Amino acid sequence: MSATAGPDCVPRHVAIIMDGNGRWATQRGLPRSAGHRQGVEALRRTVRAASGLGISVLTLYSFSTENWSRPQAEVRFLLELLRRFIRTDVAELHQSNVRIMIIGDRDGLEPSLRKMFEEAEALTRENTSLKLVIAFNYGSRQEITRAVQVLARKVADGKISPQDITPAVIGNHLDTAGLPDPDLLIRTGGEQRISNYLLWQCAYAEFVFLPEFWPEFDAASLARAIDIFRSRDRRFGGLKAQTA
Ligand code: FPP
Repeated sequence: MSATAGPDCVPRHVAIIMDGNGRWATQRGLPRSAGHRQGVEALRRTVRAASGLGISVLTLYSFSTENWSRPQAEVRFLLELLRRFIRTDVAELHQSNVRIMIIGDRDGLEPSLRKMFEEAEALTRENTSLKLVIAFNYGSRQEITRAVQVLARKVADGKISPQDITPAVIGNHLDTAGLPDPDLLIRTGGEQRISNYLLWQCAYAEFVFLPEFWPEFDAASLARAIDIFRSRDRRFGGLKAQTA
């Protein structure tokens, strides 16, 4: 199969690693928290732009399982930003027909935060425009490990046999079950790595690394990334399509 994305093609699922908040702030002599605050503004811009372009799924890496190792004050600030975002933005997102989903490990999170997640998801469950997926306390290896544990339990209980475990079955046991795989993965901030993000799901994603820091990201940055995506020849392991 070959699919050059083409000039009008819009990726169905865009996943973003929102990197560079801290460096953006440090370069301006500001505390890192100021970068994270501007990062929320960039997030709002991006959700609007993605909705406008007709993207179906936008998955944002807001906090990784490894981010707990940051200084306590920064962790506390990021958690508070997320709470504030849910409190202030969910109603408007709901009005815009956006469905909110949260992926990642909820075990061990504060019950009040889990409740906020559940309420935001329940309120927006029937919405049909953009699916906004927030990856929080997310790590892909941990997600795959949890899925394997569930499957191993099913085998041990005699509910399935090892042969029943196919790639599709594994996919259906991940946090992203039911969502299409990302077509385009964008990372801002100049680094070129995947940082334990959607490792299984990005098997055939196109990667676009942008130099700008996340607080600078806007509709034009998204359009640029999509232009690069459109120029790629997606072969999914096959050969380039022959013209007869
Ligand atoms: C990476 O930049 C960014 C994060 C670890 C957090 C991303 C969070 C936001 C954009 C705002 C909060 C999110 C929500 C959903 C309200 P970095 O701090 O690693 O930057 P650096 O690499 O320059 O240090």
